[in-house]
Amino acid sequence: MTGEAPSSAAGPAATVLAIESSCDETAVAVLRGRESLLSAVVASQIEAHRPFGGVVPELASRQHSAATPGLLAAALEKAGVDVADVDVFAATAGPGLASSLLVGNTTAKALALACGKPFLAINHLEGHLLSPFFGDSEGVQPNVALVVSGGHTMLVDVAGVGSYELMGRSRDDAAGEAFDKVAKMLGLPYPGGPLIDQLAVEGDPKAYDFPRSMMKKPGFEFSFSGLKTSVRYLTETFDQEKRDEWLPDVCASFQQAVVDVLVGKTLRAAKAAGRKLVTVSGGVGCNRCLREEMQRACDRAGLDLRIAEPALSTDNAAMIAYVAHEHHLLGRSSSLDSDVDPNLPLTNQANRA
Ligand code: KG4
Ligand code: ZN
Repeated sequence: MTGEAPSSAAGPAATVLAIESSCDETAVAVLRGRESLLSAVVASQIEAHRPFGGVVPELASRQHSAATPGLLAAALEKAGVDVADVDVFAATAGPGLASSLLVGNTTAKALALACGKPFLAINHLEGHLLSPFFGDSEGVQPNVALVVSGGHTMLVDVAGVGSYELMGRSRDDAAGEAFDKVAKMLGLPYPGGPLIDQLAVEGDPKAYDFPRSMMKKPGFEFSFSGLKTSVRYLTETFDQEKRDEWLPDVCASFQQAVVDVLVGKTLRAAKAAGRKLVTVSGGVGCNRCLREEMQRACDRAGLDLRIAEPALSTDNAAMIAYVAHEHHLLGRSSSLDSDVDPNLPLTNQANRA
């Protein structure tokens, strides 16, 4: 279902317009070449979903539908690019919420059709995976990648663009999901990850000894559901009237348990794969404790570390445009009759539908 890009496609400085709508952020970005991000706009739906304590799929797709035309116009205007001058239209094809994916995906296909330009279906995970290289003129270098988002926790051996070997992933909750579920349990609003990060600053990470699941087991799988249950059992015994006193310690101790496992397994994976470079991407990559501890551990082990900057860690369209540009350079394009896939796996040449 893929083919060579039409011969009209521009060379290395192609202009890519990408739409990301896999979950609760609608985002559009215009990228020229590998390095020039001409515009990147995001409409967050967090406020719409907050009363429900999580993302409501139908609400999400309706919000994407309402936000997309305005964001497209804003992104093109900000970029100073006419839609007719876009060389490639791209959109996330999965994984994500089907009805949300369809909004961005169908819009990008319609634009590609109307403008007679190629379309590229992009794997959201590949967007996160390659985001630490955004803006680097040398492009993607071999690395062991920790992708930690609200939906996924995985370790991937990256040999280059499109060459990915999954080393391990979470058997149950993703790290971000664990942050959000523990936050909800503690009475914090959605999404709880950034709030736990903030509260943990005031707390003692050694106050409670939460389990580091799978830490001692060989292999690179994760499990965070037991940790979540431990937090629940512990806090159920606490005096809720004194919540302000114990909350920062619980947040710091929980966060430390997650970070210890993520850092420990990532370092072990880098050693096993023989890679000298470690990357971290995805929303949980914004976590200050994770960033600091991963840096310290990599310094100790003599490894280089690249973490996507915070604006590129949470969902955004610049990372989708970046991956689309890399695949365009390799002469790939996707068929307009390709489907979205809520469970799209990250496999080699992930965009090849
Ligand atoms: O990558 P992302 O924006 O969306 C997905 O693809 O899932 O990640 C969102 C996740 C949420 O679970 C959110 O709570 C978490 O990233 N997150 C954080 C922080 N910032 C975002 N978790 C811990 N600490 C943070 N500072
Ligand atoms: Zn994401």
